[in-house]
Parts: sequence; structure tokens; C-alpha cells
Amino acid sequence: MTVAEAWNGPLGQHWAAHPDRYDAMLDGFDAALFDAAAIAAGDRVLDIGCGSGLTTRMAAQRAPAGRVTGVDISAPLVGRAGELTDAERFPQVDYRLGDAQTFAFEPGGYDLAISRGGVMFFADPVAAFTNIAGALRPGGRLAFICPQPAQPDGEERKALGLLASLLGRDHTAENAVATAMASLSDPERIHQVLGAAGFTDIGVTGVSADTCWGKDAADAVGFFVSRAPGLTVSDATRAAMTEALLPHESPRGVMLRAGVWVVTAHTGRRASRAGRDCADRAQGSCADGAQGLIRQESRDSP
Ligand SMILES: C[S@@+](CC[C@H](N)C(=O)[O-])C[C@H]1O[C@@H](n2cnc3c(N)ncnc32)[C@H](O)[C@@H]1O
Repeated sequence: MTVAEAWNGPLGQHWAAHPDRYDAMLDGFDAALFDAAAIAAGDRVLDIGCGSGLTTRMAAQRAPAGRVTGVDISAPLVGRAGELTDAERFPQVDYRLGDAQTFAFEPGGYDLAISRGGVMFFADPVAAFTNIAGALRPGGRLAFICPQPAQPDGEERKALGLLASLLGRDHTAENAVATAMASLSDPERIHQVLGAAGFTDIGVTGVSADTCWGKDAADAVGFFVSRAPGLTVSDATRAAMTEALLPHESPRGVMLRAGVWVVTAHTGRRASRAGRDCADRAQGSCADGAQGLIRQESRDSP
């Protein structure tokens, strides 16, 4: 199954059915994302991979005199985002269904692009970020979060790995979504991709937070199991999984520590132009241009 199929299939349907769960899981990172985004009241904001739209609505609260567009490749999630958005309260919000890599954004139509974990899934990241840069005005800003590399002894990785192995599943097995999730986990790679796409002033900062998986261990296990549709789990396995999560129970719920990169960048006039030239040659033929720009970026970077 491709990444787009997964987000339009079981994975996207699960996120669309449980927006509160996923928002609770990620909300420890929201302050860092919105601090980095520094949205002003009149900003025109693009939310890439907006999912069910919480961050789109949070951006709209900060930009009451601006406008906010959420774009996402998942039909179930764009539909859910629309349902969850009160049009009277958020008249400046709209959602678009599409692949941010190729979407025909209004050139220079936005001051800022943000994303809470929606920018790791592109088939061609340089082409995608070049397209996003083209949607920003010269001197426009980019602020997103993406996962840090999963540390084998990291709390979230260890706990979820244990649950998966109790279910008899190989949690290290690769699939298109898992591979994509890690596609920007190396800061050097983030610099290369964004530099090749025409962004400048690139900053990558690590932030850790507790991710909430459920109100208690049994609830978290129920949620974890529900992510594999059609799976039958014995009472004994469920009990063992619940036991494994007991050490992580707290008054706030089952909390697992995880890390993300907070990434910021700007479009510059000259760099954006170079990025657009690169996009013109994209779709497989841009490698030389991208490499040239990567070399330029690494010369410019300390
Ligand atoms: C990890 S979820 C995060 C969703 C949302 N940002 C949030 O924080 O709740 C990743 C999102 O990226 C979207 N996505 C994946 N590939 C995309 C693409 N090429 N263009 C636009 N959205 C994409 C998925 O459909 C999904 O909604």
C-alpha cells in the first residue's frame, strides 16, 4: 500500500475517527510549533498535511484578520476537518484536498507554512518543499515539526515495541508509512532538502514531550489494538499489554516521552528563484540542480 493509499484508507480513517486521541497525543508539541511559527494577526497561513485540522483552527485563532488554508492528501481527514470547523467562528479557514507536492497553490499567496508532522510523506521532498516555497511570498516563513530518530531505548519506542511484540507483530517491519515517518529524522537531511528547495536561515531544534496514549493502561491498549483493523486479541494478551503500560500510568493518563525536531526556515528572493528552477526540472530530472543547491547550502551554513 502506498503512503497516499494508507492516508486515504485504514490509517486516514482511524485518524479521522479519533481526532481527540491523536490531538492529545501530539499536544505536548503544539507550544513549540506555534512559538516557532509566531503567527501575526493578519498572516496568511498554509497548514501542510493538516489532518483533521486542529492546528489549522489554532492558526486561525492567532490570525483573525488573515486566512488559513489546510491542505491534506487524505479525503477522510479533509472531510473530518470540515465537520470539526465551525464556519461562523472560523470564516477565514478553508481546506483543500490534494498532494502538497504538486498542489497548484496561489504563487506567493501565503506568509507562512506550518505543519504538525505532515511533511515527511512526500514522494519527492525537494519538489514538494519547492512547491511550498512557491506558495510563500519572498521572505515568507516555514515552521514544522517532524519526528526525531526513534532511539531504541527511547520511552515511546520501547513501550510501543513491547506492545507490538506481545501482539506477535514485528514492530521493526518496514512499510511505506513507517519509512516515510523517518524521512526527515536526520537534521543534515532536513538542511539538504530545504536548502535545495530554496529555503534559507534553516533552524532545527530538538524538543521532547509526553505523548498521551490513553486515560489508563487498559484504555491505551484498546486504542493501540484498534489501529490494526480486524485484529482479534485474546484476553491474556490484552492483560499482558495492559501490565506493560502500568508503569507509564499517571494522573494525566498513559504518557510516553518522545522527541521531535522543530524546523524553521525562510524563503529568500534569490533562493526561491533557484528553488523554482529546480522544480521546473523536478520529477526525476532535478537531481543535478538539487545537488548543486545542496552544495551551495552547505557552503553557506556554518
Ligand atoms: C501524522 S498525520 C498529521 C496530521 C495533522 N497535521 C495533525 O497534527 O493532526 C500526517 C498528515 O499528512 C497528510 N499527508 C501525507 N502526505 C501528504 C501530502 N503529500 N500532501 C498533503 N498531505 C499529506 C496525511 O494525510 C495526514 O493527515
